[in-house]
Amino acid sequence: MKVVMIGSGYVGLVSGACFSEFGAYVTCIDSDKDKIEALNNLKIPIYEPGLNNLVKKNFEGGRLFFTTQYDGAIQNADLVFIAVGTPSYRGDGSVDLKYIYKAVRDIAPLLSGYTVVIDKSTVPVGTARNVKKILKDLNSNADFDVASNPEFLREGAAIKDFMFPDRVVVGVESEKAKALIKELYRPLNLIEVPIQFTTLESAELIKYAANSFLATKISFINEIANFCEKVGADVHEVSKGIGLDGRIGRKFLHPGPGYGGSCFTKDTRALTQIARENNTPLRIIDAVIEANESQKKKMINKIRDALAGTEKDKKVAVLGLTFKPETDDIREAPSISILSKLIDNGAKVHAHDPQGIKNAKPILPKSVQYSDSIYDIFKGADAVILFTEWNIYRGLDLERIKKLMNGNIFLDLRNVYEPDTMKSHGFSYFCVGRR
Ligand SMILES: NC(=O)c1ccc[n+]([C@@H]2O[C@H](COP(=O)([O-])OP(=O)(O)OC[C@H]3O[C@@H](n4cnc5c(N)ncnc54)[C@H](O)[C@@H]3O)[C@@H](O)[C@H]2O)c1
Repeated sequence: MKVVMIGSGYVGLVSGACFSEFGAYVTCIDSDKDKIEALNNLKIPIYEPGLNNLVKKNFEGGRLFFTTQYDGAIQNADLVFIAVGTPSYRGDGSVDLKYIYKAVRDIAPLLSGYTVVIDKSTVPVGTARNVKKILKDLNSNADFDVASNPEFLREGAAIKDFMFPDRVVVGVESEKAKALIKELYRPLNLIEVPIQFTTLESAELIKYAANSFLATKISFINEIANFCEKVGADVHEVSKGIGLDGRIGRKFLHPGPGYGGSCFTKDTRALTQIARENNTPLRIIDAVIEANESQKKKMINKIRDALAGTEKDKKVAVLGLTFKPETDDIREAPSISILSKLIDNGAKVHAHDPQGIKNAKPILPKSVQYSDSIYDIFKGADAVILFTEWNIYRGLDLERIKKLMNGNIFLDLRNVYEPDTMKSHGFSYFCVGRR
């Protein structure tokens, strides 16, 4: 089976590599020449555990190809996936579909033989139908179907999520397209992964609804955590107590500085915006977005209070910049907005992150200092802020840190450490939702 993946970013590259591992011949296309050149030299442009080996194995095995050229690849393909970015417009949250429609316009004249064109990007309800119309308008002789196959992988666990998904969702209109997609995902039958075939519209909405529900769980537990602080409850106990209820589940009930990452932020905003356009306001998701913004502001106040009322001229050591561990993605990471505010108000920041520094540098203010060596950042620091729960931050040498610091404030925004342990090491310790 011949597959083309348009867009070779977090989703396109992982999906392309995994489909080639399933046995398909996959051509990954990207408009970014540098990215394609790097990939053809087996340099992986993103950090994703296991991706390096998977790409190398299938590239060297002659099942995975990289190019900037649509011409040649599209004509040969049975299935063409579109996995380009679908960012928010600044402001109203609506989705900018320019990359999708550019790809579709470039595909249209090249379609040859029966082809299924599949949206893998997260796109508003109705997009697949628009894609169909554009393809038809631009190439009335083309023999094709459209489908929607949203992706649920998580950065940091992307290969496992792709190879062992909870489910695969496919919106499709014809039996012929359904049969081809079923064949592509056939290796997942061995592990009995449910493949849910739906209408195009349902598949598109499932993705937004899933991300919005997960974001809701995070905002919910963050608000409960804030309440815990007021009434002397411990959010870990509360989270466990509710999460053990099988109807609720324990995942995504960990409090923190607010959710980040490119997906939750843009997808919650997009869903509420699309719903408003359709005169069906989604009040719960509106509240989730508001609660998340408020959580980030609360963290700024928490940090300021810990620093005796002002961050001006305070030296702050920062552990972690990415929105979660095991990725280099800093898109919408809470660290970015929170640190930018602290720096505006005069804080001096020295940051460490195992993978995120390269992406953070162009975004964070120039005054930020970075270090590849963790313990460098603590020298003379008044306070430590832990933003990302990377494993290497879980067993830090607390004695050493304390000696290197000027102050003793430790703000653990991921509740990695136990309050009693931190107190016994002489830290003035602040976390989220625990005394
Ligand atoms: N990142 C995730 O964890 C994740 C998970 C599930 C779904 N998604 C969705 O998948 C989509 C892609 O996200 P991503 O994080 O992989 O984005 P990304 O920015 O990492 O990658 C997109 C790639 O598409 C390329 N591109 C843009 N226009 C192109 C064109 N016309 N032709 C060829 N290449 C083009 C870009 O150069 C870039 O390399 C989005 O809709 C996103 O919401 C992302």
